[in-house]
Amino acid sequence: MASVEFVGGGSVKPKLLDLFCCAGGAAMGYHQAGFEVVGVDIKTQPRYPFEFHQMDWQEALSMLNMSEFSVIHASPPCQGYSCTKSFSKSKAPKLITEVRERLQGTEKPYVIENVKGAWRDMLNPITLRGNMFGLQVIRDRLFEINPFLLAPPLIPVNGSTGSHRGISRLSDGGGYITVAGHNFLTHEARQAMEINWMNQKELAQAIPPAYTRWIGEQLMNVCFGTEAA
Ligand SMILES: C[S@@+](CC[C@H](N)C(=O)[O-])C[C@H]1O[C@@H](n2cnc3c(N)ncnc32)[C@H](O)[C@@H]1O
Repeated sequence: MASVEFVGGGSVKPKLLDLFCCAGGAAMGYHQAGFEVVGVDIKTQPRYPFEFHQMDWQEALSMLNMSEFSVIHASPPCQGYSCTKSFSKSKAPKLITEVRERLQGTEKPYVIENVKGAWRDMLNPITLRGNMFGLQVIRDRLFEINPFLLAPPLIPVNGSTGSHRGISRLSDGGGYITVAGHNFLTHEARQAMEINWMNQKELAQAIPPAYTRWIGEQLMNVCFGTEAA
């Protein structure tokens, strides 16, 4: 695993604060890239695989010792930006602009993740897609990254999602599934997203660890001059 030499001696992993962490899809990718990850969510997350604090994201930025963290990741709720928002009567908050202001105030490298519908609120986002990482899931996600990283080229999805009685299935289709709401089988989503510890509700909110593993490896190199193992 990558490690960073800090003034004062010792070789420690850089620490990453994972805001809006849910059950830790993003977290696992950063862990695999060599970060020590600390998660924050307003709801309890019994399956989050790393150190966890149940608190509001703003409270976390005020209360936690920010000097410990080298990088901040934030996945604010996507419901307000998602194409299905018109189906929901609830007023989902759009937090990206507010989150950016707070993260920029820390003067640390940061990553903000969201769905494609959020593109107007994001600054120069890159798109990551499952097939870039050999995953059998169709799940494009936008990432605003500071410092800016160049994205791998987008490759059209060569295949299709099968659907049987409203359930997206690997076995019925062209090799891909979508993972949203209750439209998928838990064991297939675990396989397609390479996440083996989450329940169905958590999977529907998660990003595949492969996405943040890639980002984490680039940040290790750009920010700390060290290649992830
Ligand atoms: C889209 S999910 C994050 C998914 C996660 N990045 C992953 O890859 O598994 C958004 C999370 O934000 C949390 N959340 C919503 N409002 C919050 C707040 N004010 N403070 C902290 N977390 C909040 C929700 O409980 C939810 O778990």
